[in-house]
Amino acid sequence: MASAPLRFGLVGTGHWASITHAPALAAAPDIELAAVWGRSAEAAAALAGTYGASAYSGDVGAFLDAVDGVAFAVPPDVQAPIAVAAARAGKHLMLEKPLATSVAGTDEVASAVAESGVASVVFFTLMFRADIRAWLAEVTARGGWLTGLTTWFGSSLGESSPFNTPWRREKGALWDIAPHAVSLLWAALGPVTGVTADAGPADVSHLILHHEGGTSSTVTVSQHGGEAASGFETYLWGPSGRSAVPAGNTDALAPLGTALAELTANIRGGLSAHPCDASFGRDVGHVISEAQRQIDERAG
Ligand SMILES: NC(=O)c1ccc[n+]([C@@H]2O[C@H](COP(=O)([O-])OP(=O)(O)OC[C@H]3O[C@@H](n4cnc5c(N)ncnc54)[C@H](OP(=O)(O)O)[C@@H]3O)[C@@H](O)[C@H]2O)c1
Repeated sequence: MASAPLRFGLVGTGHWASITHAPALAAAPDIELAAVWGRSAEAAAALAGTYGASAYSGDVGAFLDAVDGVAFAVPPDVQAPIAVAAARAGKHLMLEKPLATSVAGTDEVASAVAESGVASVVFFTLMFRADIRAWLAEVTARGGWLTGLTTWFGSSLGESSPFNTPWRREKGALWDIAPHAVSLLWAALGPVTGVTADAGPADVSHLILHHEGGTSSTVTVSQHGGEAASGFETYLWGPSGRSAVPAGNTDALAPLGTALAELTANIRGGLSAHPCDASFGRDVGHVISEAQRQIDERAG
């Protein structure tokens, strides 16, 4: 007899929860979107109502009691303590990047996940895109790359952008976009063992990533570009030429569907390890935290 779908709760009722997490959870074959938690009871009721889910606000205890797993679409430092509570309550986690914006917060989430043995996946969107997975399989099989370069100019801090949210204004592209770039270059060129970073005006951050084995790569990001100036580019360079990541695909629903399918497969199989699990989220978070430390130090 087929088992009942896993009951998932969604933390967050904003734009990202509404356009991506809620529809992806509702469409996932082995998931029932059972609960929505928001700091606003009205917003939670509105989003939950769309999907026939129960709405929760205030203390997260009753919300957590009602679910097997939790998906997050709230600012990182709101996500972290709820994720810790959820993991300690034995709930599986569909997390957002970055895990938190401090080393302590990041480590707490990864430790709670490791100690409780729950399954976790962090939504490094690029890592769940089918075209990028095919590219990664090809470039890692070919090998021999001498460097990789990423530029990502977003427009989320534009006045009319629905992504112009307080935490992004405070933390900028270093915390919002660079985790995606680091995850991708990590997968393409090997583990990142160190970072050298600096920043310029207009939310520009530059990272030099040092990979295990001696390869280096670069990341330049900003969220301050206008629509006309926005764009994402990554390529690897080596003796066999250049290989560019397929660009132009901004769909997040299909990648989140893949992430949820892999999370639920792990839950069903009693497994917790995933290439993008909370421990990988912590490792990427440490790179970003160290970059921030250097940028702050140079700024005096
Ligand atoms: N993987 C990706 O490609 C991708 C893309 C976009 C976003 N994200 C991630 O999704 C997360 C949210 O993104 P966003 O900033 O764009 O948010 P958002 O969609 O604007 O939503 C923010 C949500 O958090 C709630 N919230 C804000 N401060 C809170 C607090 N102190 N306590 C409780 N709830 C609070 C908001 O409630 P109110 O509505 O009451 O303010 C809202 O429900 C971030 O981690 C971001 O990195 C990932």
